[in-house]
Amino acid sequence: MRVNWSSCRPLVSIQEVTKVRRVGGNGASTRQLFKSTLARNEEARREDISGTDEWTNITPTIERLTNRKLLSNPAHPLTTLRDIIFSKFPEQEYTRANFLNPRVSVYENFDSLNITPDHVSRSKTDTYYLNKHKVLRTHTSAHQVESFRVYPTPGFLIAADVYRRDEIDRSHYPAFHQMEGGRWWSPEGTTSVKELVAKIDADTAKIPTSGIQIVDDTLPFHAGNPKQDRQPPEVCIAVTNHLKRTLEMVVGEIFQDIGKGDPSATKEPLQIRWIDATFPFTSPSWEMEVYWQGEWLELFGCGVTQQRVFDQAGHPERVGWAFGVGIERVAMVLFGIPDIRLFWSEDPRFLEQFAPGVVNTFKQFSRYPGTSRDFAFWLKDGTSPDQFHDNDLMDIVREVAGDLVENVSLIDKFTHPKTKRNSLCYRVLFQSMERTLNNDEINVLQDNIRESLKIKFAVELR
Ligand code: PHE
Repeated sequence: MRVNWSSCRPLVSIQEVTKVRRVGGNGASTRQLFKSTLARNEEARREDISGTDEWTNITPTIERLTNRKLLSNPAHPLTTLRDIIFSKFPEQEYTRANFLNPRVSVYENFDSLNITPDHVSRSKTDTYYLNKHKVLRTHTSAHQVESFRVYPTPGFLIAADVYRRDEIDRSHYPAFHQMEGGRWWSPEGTTSVKELVAKIDADTAKIPTSGIQIVDDTLPFHAGNPKQDRQPPEVCIAVTNHLKRTLEMVVGEIFQDIGKGDPSATKEPLQIRWIDATFPFTSPSWEMEVYWQGEWLELFGCGVTQQRVFDQAGHPERVGWAFGVGIERVAMVLFGIPDIRLFWSEDPRFLEQFAPGVVNTFKQFSRYPGTSRDFAFWLKDGTSPDQFHDNDLMDIVREVAGDLVENVSLIDKFTHPKTKRNSLCYRVLFQSMERTLNNDEINVLQDNIRESLKIKFAVELR
């Protein structure tokens, strides 16, 4: 199941962050905090990260994906989209980071971002663990703290592959790509909140206006999407304005650029809307959606960076914002790519259709017929259907059949009235994007999936 960060539990009470310098306040306790967070970061980095343990659930198939590095191919549509997005941010203001290692500590992926220990996204059914301490990053936000800490510019941009255990269908894949951006201001050199606000506003004034149609019914902040205690309201609003104008400019330019070469594109102004959201590492938070070819596409998740994130980065005095965006969904729309598996295709008929920097519509090569097979089984006595997670089956199927599977869905679930045993039935659609599969090979895949199910989950096949 896709992790829905928007359904995150309420933020950890800000009261927990005590004795931290308010903007423009006194810095004595700040130094202490600096020390303790730096020490903690160091510890997290040194943690024993090798070896496997009872948390390990990464499979060889996923391991292989971590080596593909799609963004190093300059002609890949995802690279083109990344470069278009990057190009909208001034280079002297935003440091670019590519090819950061996807293996990150649990601290980087979760704790440093205020994600509570019991948050669902940490569960083994949702996240690939290398071991207890190390995961495949589930989002590029895993690099926020480090980026806010080290880059010489006040802004940064990251593009990278991320991994989530997930269902199998045309728009979900266990690996996909995200971009992250961040921007901060320091009260250094200012003597009042007013001056800090003026500094942020001056940067906002430099952002080109977008010329798009914007619907924004959100409030600057409110009880359900609060400003942080450590921030004066004017600062929160100034940061928000810079964030929203930046993303509006980026989206306006990208979609207008793309419309230019396409005579069928409507001349209507592009429409976007802002809606409230919740993330543990920003507050207030929003999502931006764009209306494109008849549907609302969810784009950026973003917000005013939690001061706790700046604390972790060793810069508790800073204020700023962050955003994240998944790029497959956008690339599928822009390039007319109908199935997310295609991004990982090594078929020249896919790759040769694209050139660096060019957005063109993908011409589908012939669609090969698919064949489905059902897998019905009794769960071990005393196991409820909730104890068998869809994602457990997904990983077995991927391990055996890789990208030859287009879709997996649960089609039946029942409890035997007398024995009370639970039965599940999944339908797997086998379909290659590159050739016609023959029955014999599907039978082999089917047998192997059945065998793995028996061994791994002690189910009784029906
Ligand atoms: N990391 C969030 C996600 O994966 C997106 C996000 C990034 C939200 C930065 C706010 C700030 O959904």
